[in-house]
Amino acid sequence: MEALAPGKTLGILGGGQLGRLIAEAAKALGYRTAALDSSASSPALQVVDLPIVGAVDDVSAMKLAEASDLLTLEWELIPVKVLEAVAQARPLYPEPSVLGLIQDRLTQTNFLRKHGFPQTPYGEAATATGWKYPVIIKRRSHGYDGKGQCRLGSEADAPKAAEVLTAPCVWEKLVDYKAEISVILARGRDGTVAVYPVAENVHRDGILHATRAPARIPRDVADKAVALAMKIAGALGHVGVMAVEMFLLHDESLLVNEIAPRVHNSGHYTLGGCAVSQFEQHVRAVCGLPLGSTGLIAGPAAMVNLLGDLWEKGPPKWSALDAVPGAKLHLYGKSGARPGRKMGHYTVVGPSAEAEFDRADERLRQLRG
Ligand SMILES: Nc1ncnc2c1ncn2[C@@H]1O[C@H](COP(=O)(O)OP(=O)(O)O)[C@@H](O)[C@H]1O
Ligand SMILES: [Mg+2]
Repeated sequence: MEALAPGKTLGILGGGQLGRLIAEAAKALGYRTAALDSSASSPALQVVDLPIVGAVDDVSAMKLAEASDLLTLEWELIPVKVLEAVAQARPLYPEPSVLGLIQDRLTQTNFLRKHGFPQTPYGEAATATGWKYPVIIKRRSHGYDGKGQCRLGSEADAPKAAEVLTAPCVWEKLVDYKAEISVILARGRDGTVAVYPVAENVHRDGILHATRAPARIPRDVADKAVALAMKIAGALGHVGVMAVEMFLLHDESLLVNEIAPRVHNSGHYTLGGCAVSQFEQHVRAVCGLPLGSTGLIAGPAAMVNLLGDLWEKGPPKWSALDAVPGAKLHLYGKSGARPGRKMGHYTVVGPSAEAEFDRADERLRQLRG
C-alpha cells in the first residue's frame, strides 16, 4: 500500500493528550486530522480539523472512518469489535489483533511467556492459591496509571484486595527492582524499526512521575533492553509507536512489565529532545512514510509530569520554570484539575536535564507555590 499523501485525513480513535500530540505532529506533516471522543472539550478534539463527539462504539467510530483516509488510535482499550468494524472500512494501524492481545493483562503476559520473554511470576487471581508474596494484584483490563491495583505483603493482607478482585484480576510477584526503564520504538508497515534512547522512569503511586534519557544503565543492558523490545514488536506484528516497560533488577537482568501499543508518557521527552518526536514517528509509521531520526539533539533530556494535585492552591506558579535553561511546558487543555489527573508535563533538554530530573520534586514544590 502507498504512503498516505499529505492533504489526506488521519483519523484518531480517542481524544486524550496522546491524540492531541499525534494530531499536532500530523498537521505539521501536512495531514488533515480527525478524532473521536465522548467529550467535545477533550484535549485532541480541541486541535483536530474534524472533531467527532460520540462514544467509542461502532456507530461513532464508523463516522470517524468515513471522514478519514487512514485510522490510528491513542488508547488501547477500544473494544476489539469496534476496531475490527472500522478496519473493514479504512486501513487501521496498529491492527485490531495487536490490541486484542494486549487489552487483557493475562493474554498479554501469556503472549510474553509463549515467546519466552522474561517476566515476574504471575497467574490468574481467581483463587488465592499459588500467589507468591509480596504480590501485586492487577485488574485484567481497564487498569491505567496504577488504577485497579493492590499490593499485599503477605497472606494476612489478602482482605485488602477485595475491592480490586470484584473484576477479573491477575497476580504478579512484586519485583524488587533497581530501576524502571522503557524502550520506545516505532515499527513501520514494512517491518523497519526505529528505536529511541532507553528511558529511565520514576513512578509515584503507580503514575509516571519523571523520565530521563538516556537511562543510567550500562551499554550492554541498554542493548539487551532494545533487543527485547524489538523482538516483542516483531512478534506482535505491531505497526506504529509502542513502549515496553521493564524492570532492571539488582543483578542487571531485565523483566518485562507491560507493553503499550501506542505512544507513551515515558516517550514525551522525545518531543523537543529528539530529532523526530514519538508523535511524528507514529504518524510516519502508520502513514507509511520513512521513519525519522531518533537521536537526542542536544544531549540528555528529562520530562516531569504535571498532575492535577499541582492546581490545589490555584494555578501553578509557572515562573518557577523560567529559571530552568531548556525547559518547555506542555499543557493538554484539560479544565478539571483532579488529583492524579495528567494535566501536562515539562521537558528539559540539554545540560540541565539530568539535574532537573533529580530535582523534580523541589521544582514541583515551587510550582505549587
Ligand atoms: N510486579 C511488580 N513489581 C513491582 N512494581 C510493580 C509491579 N507491577 C507494577 N508495578 C509498579 O506499578 C506501576 C504501574 O503498574 P503497571 O503494571 O505498569 O500498570 P499501569 O501503568 O497500566 O497502571 C509500575 O510502573 C511499577 O512502578
Ligand atoms: Mg505501566
